[in-house]
Amino acid sequence: MEKGIKRARIALLSGDGIGPEIMAAARHVLEVTAQRFDFELEFKEGDVGGIAIDRHGRALPPATLKLCEESDAILFGSVGGPQWEHLPPSEQPERAALLPLRKHFELCVNLRPTVVFPALRSHSVVRLERLAGDIDLLIVRELTGGIYFAQPKMRDTTHALDTLRYTTDEIMRIAHFAFQAAHKRRSRVTSIDKANVLSSMGLWRDTVTEVGRHYPSVELRHLYVDNAAMQLILDPTQFDVVLCPNMFGDILSDEAAVLSGSLGLQPSASLAMPTSEKSADAPYFGLYEPAGGSAPDIAGQNCANPIAQILSAALLLAYSMHQHAASRAISHAVAKVIEAGYRTADIAPPGVDAIGTDEYGRLVAHAIAEI
Ligand code: IPM
Ligand code: MG
Repeated sequence: MEKGIKRARIALLSGDGIGPEIMAAARHVLEVTAQRFDFELEFKEGDVGGIAIDRHGRALPPATLKLCEESDAILFGSVGGPQWEHLPPSEQPERAALLPLRKHFELCVNLRPTVVFPALRSHSVVRLERLAGDIDLLIVRELTGGIYFAQPKMRDTTHALDTLRYTTDEIMRIAHFAFQAAHKRRSRVTSIDKANVLSSMGLWRDTVTEVGRHYPSVELRHLYVDNAAMQLILDPTQFDVVLCPNMFGDILSDEAAVLSGSLGLQPSASLAMPTSEKSADAPYFGLYEPAGGSAPDIAGQNCANPIAQILSAALLLAYSMHQHAASRAISHAVAKVIEAGYRTADIAPPGVDAIGTDEYGRLVAHAIAEI
């Protein structure tokens, strides 16, 4: 039986751009939630991204990595901005902070849920009113393999090489996760590949099919990534769990995010598989971050949408602490505040006054205290 963890150390890595503002809102929500549901959170802040380059000469300083190692979970803001774009790509905040963190902690499971709040349906760039069903899909992206990490990689002045390699072990662990997640949802997995062209993707398809035999009650369908990109816009209600190799998951998750009306609404969780000495129902070590970027154009103006960061904090409570009731309370509180008509600038229709990032955090926290 799962039991909620009563105490956890959280590394807060706010990063750059809007990161610190949306992090402050999420932290406030977490503090109120911990009090309401009677558990303890110990927050410690670390520098990451561009600000860490400025202060310590690198995007992921050893002290920050150590802080993460000593924590039970990482709440990550966002990194990057124009100040650091002149650096060689491998030293820029995104690549030099996020990718090493994913690899160091072997965060091989990336969860990107897309929920369209009913009150925001008309706000989507896609005409969702033509669809009858609900949009509630979960992208399960493989995060530490494939073309992002496989060797060899090289670049000289006239040619460059990246390698797309997958092993059956890498595919099996993410596939099991996807089928188990689907089992708790609407029991449908759509696996994405490009098996008609790439041999690594043929292995992906065959391995996923093999894993699927262990889950006879879950319906499995395979789609080529180009078709999937089209289907996601044509009818997103057809999807439940969408299982993706690393790069296809990167691309499709941004596409899925625009369905909801704003990138500022999409949370994510990157999880390490529990090691064998931990019990199967032990909580996950994870890194939780909004799907959107650091939005330097609106940084420091108290107008960014903190919902993705707040919902990422809710994922942290569920996956790294088994505090499921508290996690659901945050999601409900966010939905309530949206239903009540409160909007940040990115989701405010013309004529509706947008409210600030900090105020939004207070409204969500207030809604939790009332639950
Ligand atoms: C994401 C981002 C990252 C990725 C970048 C910033 C390295 O786009 O988390 O989706 O490509 O994985
Ligand atoms: Mg991306």
